[in-house]
Amino acid sequence: MRSDLLVLGAAQLLTAPEGSGPLRGEDLDRPLLLDDAAIACVDGRIAAFGPTADVAARFPEREAAEVLDGSGCLVAPGFVDAHTHLPFAGTRENEFDARARGERYEAIAAQGGGIRASARQLRACSEERLAELVSGRLRELLAEGTTTVEAKSGYGLATSEERKQLRALARAAAHDGVEIVPTFLGAHDVPDDYRDRRGDYVTLLIEEMIPTVAAEGLARFCDVWCDRGVFTVEESRRILAAGRERGLLPKLHADELGDAGGAALAAEVAAVSADHLLCASDPGLRAMAGAGVIAVLLPGTALTLGLPYARARDMIAMGVPVALATDFNPGSTFSSSMPLMLTLAVTQMRLTPAEAWMAATANAAEAVAEGRRLGRIAPGWQADFVLYDAPDYRHIPYHYGRNHARATVKRGKVVHRRADPSICH
Ligand code: NIG
Ligand code: FE
Repeated sequence: MRSDLLVLGAAQLLTAPEGSGPLRGEDLDRPLLLDDAAIACVDGRIAAFGPTADVAARFPEREAAEVLDGSGCLVAPGFVDAHTHLPFAGTRENEFDARARGERYEAIAAQGGGIRASARQLRACSEERLAELVSGRLRELLAEGTTTVEAKSGYGLATSEERKQLRALARAAAHDGVEIVPTFLGAHDVPDDYRDRRGDYVTLLIEEMIPTVAAEGLARFCDVWCDRGVFTVEESRRILAAGRERGLLPKLHADELGDAGGAALAAEVAAVSADHLLCASDPGLRAMAGAGVIAVLLPGTALTLGLPYARARDMIAMGVPVALATDFNPGSTFSSSMPLMLTLAVTQMRLTPAEAWMAATANAAEAVAEGRRLGRIAPGWQADFVLYDAPDYRHIPYHYGRNHARATVKRGKVVHRRADPSICH
């Protein structure tokens, strides 16, 4: 049979075990590993994978439009970065400096820095320029093996500005190799002009912003930051219900700075995911396990802010399906590197390398409600995978601070190739 792309002779292939659905408990530590592996892609999907001899017998090399030699390489699903704030304008290294001198994130935000500083920077940036910035960031994360990225608005905090962020994402997505999953996060903070009438901002979100974003098809999810000093459980519940009514699936930034009841709310509203969870309570986490809410863990944020890491081992023991993401944003963590998140997950949250990989691929796809299409190398799944200059999946989190990706494949096409393939280990 003909194929559009054939990968042959990969030293190792890593993917989630056969089946679908979020991986929990011990299953997270049981990936499928194959030696001397091949993948055949047809029409943007995976047609077959397995031992090279078997795949090559069904999909001969001479009938392949393109062939990639996988010798010496690991091949793994492309990362699904399930939590980013990609469409931002401007940076905040001044806050990074202030924190180094002992200031706290919340104190900086209370003085008008933080999200509201990014909102001012965004206002000064055109939609066209913002789309260019997003495109540049997409190229970078593609080069490190991310093939799908969730991206939130939330620096607009006004209808036209939130719309600008989401439209910039759509413009960038139209011509880049990375797939973007857009999320409306108008409830990221209360803007300056609503500080003494926050109820009016919640009304604006419910009556104007959510209907506009939904009517224009600009977002798939509605997210709220439910936390100490941000939005309360009651406010978050109303905002998420308004989103759900318009077809936007609920997500939460929950319990990052304090235990505000965000985890339990995520379970109550059957959110697709609850993210951060640094201070989430045991009852909240148990409720999430019961409701099947994915916990998206963001170790880059704990690293940057110097906070204790999320209790990943407890969550796994409770049966919460965990995923890993970057939280890429200009304030609390300025990195889009998923390999670095693997390293932090292993060294700081005590996940095994196998668990970290499953959390960053199969479970991450579940966190954007795409578990049946993305995050696995499996027949019928979209052909999104990466070849690394490393013969073993453990090498990627172990040998950190360096990009090992040799080629990134999206929808069965090579969309990024490293200019100077090198083996340095
Ligand atoms: O996910 N926690 C809420 N929001 C971001 C921080 C955004 C910012 O500081 O710009 C986060 O960490
Ligand atoms: Fe975030």
